[in-house]
Amino acid sequence: MLLNYLLPLGTLLAGSALAVNTVEVQGQDFVDTKTNKRMYIMGVDYQPGGSSGYSEASKEDPLTNGTACLRDAAIMQQLGINTVRIYNVDPDGDHDDCASIFNYVGIYMMLDVNAPTSGGSINRADPSSSYTASYLERIFKMVEAFKNYPNTLGFFGANELINDEDSAKDNPVYIRAVQRDLKNYIKNNADRTIPVGYSAAQVQSVLEDTWEYLQCAIDGDDNDMSRSDFFGLNSYSWCGGDATFTSSGYNKIVDMFQNSSIPVFFSEYGCNEVKPRVFDEVQALYGEQMTSISGGLVYEWSQEDNDYGLVIINDNGTVTLRTDFNNLQSQFNKLNTTLIQSTSSSATAIDPPKCAKSLIDSSSFGADFDLPSTPSKASDMIKNGLSNANVGKIKDVSETSVPFKVYSTSGKEVSGLSIKEVKSGEANTPSGTNLDDGSTADKSTTGTSTSSSSKASSSAEGAAGKIGVQSTGALVFAGILAVLLC
Ligand SMILES: *[C@@H]1O[C@H](CO)[C@@H](O)[C@H](O)[C@H]1NC(C)=O
Ligand SMILES: *[C@@H]1O[C@H](CO)[C@@H](O)[C@H](O)[C@H]1NC(C)=O
Ligand SMILES: *[C@@H]1O[C@H](CO)[C@@H](O)[C@H](O)[C@H]1NC(C)=O
Ligand SMILES: *[C@@H]1O[C@H](CO)[C@@H](O)[C@H](O)[C@H]1NC(C)=O
Repeated sequence: MLLNYLLPLGTLLAGSALAVNTVEVQGQDFVDTKTNKRMYIMGVDYQPGGSSGYSEASKEDPLTNGTACLRDAAIMQQLGINTVRIYNVDPDGDHDDCASIFNYVGIYMMLDVNAPTSGGSINRADPSSSYTASYLERIFKMVEAFKNYPNTLGFFGANELINDEDSAKDNPVYIRAVQRDLKNYIKNNADRTIPVGYSAAQVQSVLEDTWEYLQCAIDGDDNDMSRSDFFGLNSYSWCGGDATFTSSGYNKIVDMFQNSSIPVFFSEYGCNEVKPRVFDEVQALYGEQMTSISGGLVYEWSQEDNDYGLVIINDNGTVTLRTDFNNLQSQFNKLNTTLIQSTSSSATAIDPPKCAKSLIDSSSFGADFDLPSTPSKASDMIKNGLSNANVGKIKDVSETSVPFKVYSTSGKEVSGLSIKEVKSGEANTPSGTNLDDGSTADKSTTGTSTSSSSKASSSAEGAAGKIGVQSTGALVFAGILAVLLC
């Protein structure tokens, strides 16, 4: 094959498929299964193109373009991100490059299993007719696509299916039904447990009820498959530099979830009513007062119409940092790393309450624990697995240099940006430097030969220059495949 002689041997030896340690839920915490350290989610919601930028027909989603993921992962690694949440994913797409790149830098992935397409999610206004075998097949395909990546942290079975009091009536039972089906599918068809949970809108009048309803165990059984394994809250109540722990209502959030039997975190945060965002809430969220909350995901990575971006992804593939990025990085760098890397405390293990109508306060909330039964075709899928599904697989990462320019907030070029293999499979942490100043931290600690990988990437860039820089990633991966097949 023509391509492989373009690649120096160093490229092929530089990468190794080191896997991040898998993460599990233990009581109120996410825990690294190897080090037994607690993992606070230090994340960002990742949906370049925005919520409307997804089309199933194109087979493209935020995790199908390895070159774009390499660029974004390198910037996120410097920022200190350890988790990305991706909302709309095509289960038939090829996510191996992106998943492998995020794995390489110690970034976990949380996937929404649903899609904004017809039949791709439970219909808020008509849940029963959308709970079908073909809907379930889609979400089982999502499990197949992501179950083998070690950095798959969890699946959101539903996002904001309850978004007002009306939708709190009939929908709760479907959240549990979908969780049951997903968890049974994982149990029978994956090699490890992968947490499944819910992402809630902050509808104050039914928020506590939603969490109680989803964390409780029907019949008091800890292994109740329909329970949430975690509870994500989309929280925008801390706005601007004048807000405080109390004025933002964070104190109430802590009180509400203090005794949760499952991890609670912000699946979205970052109010943008005051711009640029200063992100003072980061000190609260990862500080002593909020250790019962497992961190959160900033909404969101790229600048879209709704004006929440940390960075601008330019049409030519370059990235420009926004002031929000700079401010967030300064906040992350101030955090107490002893606290956020603490080992997990078994004292946080709390038995789930037994499900009962008495747990629920609001009369608007449909506290039904009699779940709809799984459609029989879907039961067969759960039992036998899907035989024809696209199953993702982690692979070696060889291209480490970012093939696009990255500009600071003042327009200066940030040079020498590349991804570094994470230390011994642990989650990425804040770098302590400020990318916006043009300073990058050398996070490489694994003894991977950086000289060979940078040499490899510069020659790959050179070769790619002739055929368009966007195919660099594909070119290298194709080259490796070609050699492996020889
Ligand atoms: C949480 O548990 C502690 C200790 O049992 C108790 O004092 C506290 O009232 C509980 N908080 C809530 C909100 O239930
Ligand atoms: C890419 O586009 C941005 C924004 O339009 C521009 O500032 C930058 O100079 C361009 N960079 C390259 C390398 O073309
Ligand atoms: C991948 O993303 C880069 C950066 O945005 C872009 O230039 C390139 O065209 C994309 N590649 C494909 C195959 O879409
Ligand atoms: C960091 O957190 C640890 C663990 O809670 C605590 O003992 C220590 O005092 C904190 N350090 C600072 C500077 O606040």
